[in-house]
Amino acid sequence: MLLGKNHAQGSLVCVGTGLNLAGQISVLSQSYIENADLVFSLMSDGFALSWLKSLNPDVRTLQPYYAQGDEIKNRRDTYEQMVQAILAEVRLGKKVVCALYGHPGVFACVSHYAIDAAKAEGYSAKMEPGISAEACLWADLGIDPGQSGHQSFEASQFMFYHHTPDPTTHLLLWQIAIAGEHTLTQFHSCSDRLQILVELLQQWYPLTHEVIIYEAPTLPIETARIERLALNELPFSRLTQVSTLLIPPAKKLELNHAVLAKLGITESDLG
Ligand SMILES: C[S@@+](CC[C@H](N)C(=O)[O-])C[C@H]1O[C@@H](n2cnc3c(N)ncnc32)[C@H](O)[C@@H]1O
Repeated sequence: MLLGKNHAQGSLVCVGTGLNLAGQISVLSQSYIENADLVFSLMSDGFALSWLKSLNPDVRTLQPYYAQGDEIKNRRDTYEQMVQAILAEVRLGKKVVCALYGHPGVFACVSHYAIDAAKAEGYSAKMEPGISAEACLWADLGIDPGQSGHQSFEASQFMFYHHTPDPTTHLLLWQIAIAGEHTLTQFHSCSDRLQILVELLQQWYPLTHEVIIYEAPTLPIETARIERLALNELPFSRLTQVSTLLIPPAKKLELNHAVLAKLGITESDLG
């Protein structure tokens, strides 16, 4: 297929800006922003947006596509409109960058949809990684997830589907503030829904098990919110749109004796 002039020029790069203002972006991502014809953005706050505007004169926030005021709007419509806004500029032959806080493709669908759509129309499109909330969490809590492994789920998906957590590993629940919210129109959950989540988790974790509400700082002058509480206190806790729940292991790792025997390894060989 012959591509028109604009196809040859139009391109999309989705970059992540990290969580903490200006300091967690890669050199490559910043360079893409500085050299873009225009930058679409979803930043965590006004400070981050101002900083982005200092890097490129044409920054357009995608925030207005979310429901405004009392408006009830399904987030699927929001995401579709964001993708169409991005694609319209790529089709005009522009070098478009979409800058999202954190990692642009971790628990963030717009970048994936936009890249797929741009590629399907023959444009160059790719993603540059960024420092996600999860990367900050391991650093702030001093945990190496490789010690026992970890699992990560979107909180509502964890409730709606048969996921099986492994209580010997760390479990991360993203978007905990909207756990159990299925209409995609609200930005908060309620204690009744969180109670149902606690009852679900009770299959694997004692009610007194310590869990952690984590919020990474987004400004260099801030410190992380690290709130430790018992699992059964979760429905009454203060959760925000940027809260992530960490459930540390409740059980010790168990040796797989059958595999060890096949490998000719004994327990003492493992130290
Ligand atoms: C739509 S996801 C976006 C994640 C983002 N792409 C990233 O890489 O971190 C939103 C969820 O990310 C997590 N999150 C976002 N900002 C955070 C912060 N400052 N601290 C902790 N978790 C955060 C929360 O679980 C929040 O509900």
